[in-house]
Amino acid sequence: KLFTSSSEFEQDLTITRRPRKGVIIGAGRVGMACAYSMLIQHTLDEMVIVDNNQEKLEGEVMDLVHGLPFVEPSIVKGGTLQDGQDADIVIITAGAKQKQGESRLDLVQHNVEIFKTLIPEIVKYCPKAIILVVTNPVDIMTYVTLRLSKLPSSNVIGSGTLLDTARFRYLLAEKLTIDPRSLHAYIIGEHGDSEVAVWSKVNIAGSPLVDDNLENNQIDPSLQAVFENVKNAAYEIIQRKGATCYAIGLGVTQIVQAILRNQNRVFTVSTMINGIHDIEDVCLSLPAVVNRQGVTRVLNISLTSLEQQQLQKSRQVLRQTIAQLNL
Ligand code: 2OP
Repeated sequence: KLFTSSSEFEQDLTITRRPRKGVIIGAGRVGMACAYSMLIQHTLDEMVIVDNNQEKLEGEVMDLVHGLPFVEPSIVKGGTLQDGQDADIVIITAGAKQKQGESRLDLVQHNVEIFKTLIPEIVKYCPKAIILVVTNPVDIMTYVTLRLSKLPSSNVIGSGTLLDTARFRYLLAEKLTIDPRSLHAYIIGEHGDSEVAVWSKVNIAGSPLVDDNLENNQIDPSLQAVFENVKNAAYEIIQRKGATCYAIGLGVTQIVQAILRNQNRVFTVSTMINGIHDIEDVCLSLPAVVNRQGVTRVLNISLTSLEQQQLQKSRQVLRQTIAQLNL
């Protein structure tokens, strides 16, 4: 007999560890980049991908599962939210994306309408899941998800300025000839045009890159150019290839791993801010601790008064958009 019963072994597996299950909503370029990145980094035991376009979904899933023999085993399937029962995490990438010349905020009401049907369904079928919002404008969509789901704020996370922070680290590290993982730098505020570079906190091995006394000390124009490139990165990429997907896919994987492996990692993710830096009732990014419970702490980092002002501007842009929402 080629196969013998291994029920004892199987039983043991189910007792020791429950499969880690995730749902990706949206089989577009971002959703599929997340799926591919999580697949090759063995982040989930079971992945369900959901999309309204059945044919596209089928094609994407076929393409992905044909690679399963090359990676660690996991289950990958296309399905509906009903297949998401017991999901630990739901990643939302569905929605309209920026076209050339559009800002992230231009997408807002269209994507809010999609979320009005989507979020109650997620809460119904995946009640225990942490929701990770990637759809733009991500800070607004995170806020909308919290309001529509009525979940505790720890359970709804936006990818926020995770990607901008990565771009900042990558570009600065390249300029300074250092590994980006050895350079600490943060972009905070809106994931969008009003985002803020926290120059006062950029450091390598604890040594600050710029003088603490930032207000009196103009940032070197060549460093300022790095930040401009970070801020404009999405526009530049969209102009050349129509969308961004790989870096966000890799970043989302890190957030999902931090959640499922209870890592207490610090990321600049979008989360409900109440009472830090005088900000109330808005989702934006600040460095925050992510673990199995979701976002459990937002770090109250000290900012120079210029950085404070810039963060307030970001808050204002987001609050104005929230005030105009038809929820
Ligand atoms: C990005 O920053 C478009 O938000 C997307 O790449």
